[in-house]
Amino acid sequence: MDEFKGRLTKDGIRIHNAGDSAGMFRAGALAARILDDVADMIAPGVTTEAIDAAIQRMVEAAGATSATIGYRGYQHASCISVNHVVCHGIPGAKVLKDGDILNIDVTVIVDGWFGDTSRMYVAGNVSRRSERLIQVTHDALMKGIEAVRPGKTFGDIGHAIQTYVEAQRMSVVRDFCGHGLGQVFHAPPNVLHYGRPGTAAVLEEGMFFTIEPMVNLGRPETKVLADDWTAVTRDKSLSAQFEHSIGVTADGCEIFTLSPGGRFHPTWRKSAS
Ligand code: MF3
Ligand code: CO
Ligand code: CO
Repeated sequence: MDEFKGRLTKDGIRIHNAGDSAGMFRAGALAARILDDVADMIAPGVTTEAIDAAIQRMVEAAGATSATIGYRGYQHASCISVNHVVCHGIPGAKVLKDGDILNIDVTVIVDGWFGDTSRMYVAGNVSRRSERLIQVTHDALMKGIEAVRPGKTFGDIGHAIQTYVEAQRMSVVRDFCGHGLGQVFHAPPNVLHYGRPGTAAVLEEGMFFTIEPMVNLGRPETKVLADDWTAVTRDKSLSAQFEHSIGVTADGCEIFTLSPGGRFHPTWRKSAS
């Protein structure tokens, strides 16, 4: 444990102290609980700004801080990305309609630690295609997480995600990636969701980062709209994303943003009814 003292690797990746994961679990649990609780209001007829307002109230009620309000001029407590929006959808007057799929991404700060997670929701009845996209994206995140262990590399994570997604004839977005985090929102490394085995930095115990693959039904290319935030698929195909914040442990990893209510995957609704 002696060398395990908040140092940086040669790639600038922070190796956290053994006790630091307690802070990450507190922040991660709050972000995940907010995503659990907001699920009850997702339905046709609801606006994305109403969802964001509810999220902001939950952050405040917990005595925490939103990491996104004021971040590079962003003014909302969440990103809400509907249908062909890949990520960074801005909450607004848009009304959800039957069959819409959406990602909600929340990052909170608790006692200085950042918890960043996102997941998919469905408004009303969802098509088989959308359901399959959501399933593949969820499973792609989990394949990436399963590849996390000291001695493996970030390329191994990307490779696990990419090979799984492409075998399902879907595509991995290249233009956005996961990131280191901890007492900062975005830190090295860039966590790519594609790659070759054995390439990029080697994973070490004490690294904290997100994995947050975006998967498209069509081609991987994206473009950012004139609002400078909203990223959409160039071919207008549907896109999905799931995100966890994790830490590398001695023999694998720990997930800081597990859903306390078992609601990470939208099928929890079906099993409940
Ligand atoms: N939470 C996003 C991520 O996964 C970042 C959102 S930044 C914002 O990294 F400003 F758009 F909110
Ligand atoms: Co993130
Ligand atoms: Co996020």
